[in-house]
Amino acid sequence: MIALGCDHGGYNLMREIKSLLDGKNLEYRDFGTFSEDSCDYPDYAKPVADAVASGECARGILVCGTGIGMSIAANKVRGIRAALCGDCFSAEATRLHNDANILCLGARVTGPGLALKIVEVFLSTEFEGGRHTRRVEKIAELER
Ligand code: RB5
Repeated sequence: MIALGCDHGGYNLMREIKSLLDGKNLEYRDFGTFSEDSCDYPDYAKPVADAVASGECARGILVCGTGIGMSIAANKVRGIRAALCGDCFSAEATRLHNDANILCLGARVTGPGLALKIVEVFLSTEFEGGRHTRRVEKIAELER
């Protein structure tokens, strides 16, 4: 299950992401927003981050105008490793090396074609483990 959240700046891209996930028969839980009306991105980052941190959802995707606000907010939640990605290399690397559990996208920065590729790479890449496990554990230590 993938947790989804966006603000008004990410609303249109999120619609395309949902179409992509539908086409792949991937299940998601949509925490909104559900219109282009102005809203506050932390209100959507929080439920998505909580759903991922609790294990209810394996991964999350958050979209706002830049992706920055969403990533700052989501990373405040213990257990969340949210990565703002604007290219496929970073999306792959953050899964391989950081075990990132939330992908953040900036809809006003990254065009929809590239953004959808980034989503595909993020969702299809597994954590490499090994020496990276120690490093991810050290991130968790910072939360304690
Ligand atoms: C909303 O105007 C915008 O600030 C938001 O989508 C995001 O870019 C914040 O980081």
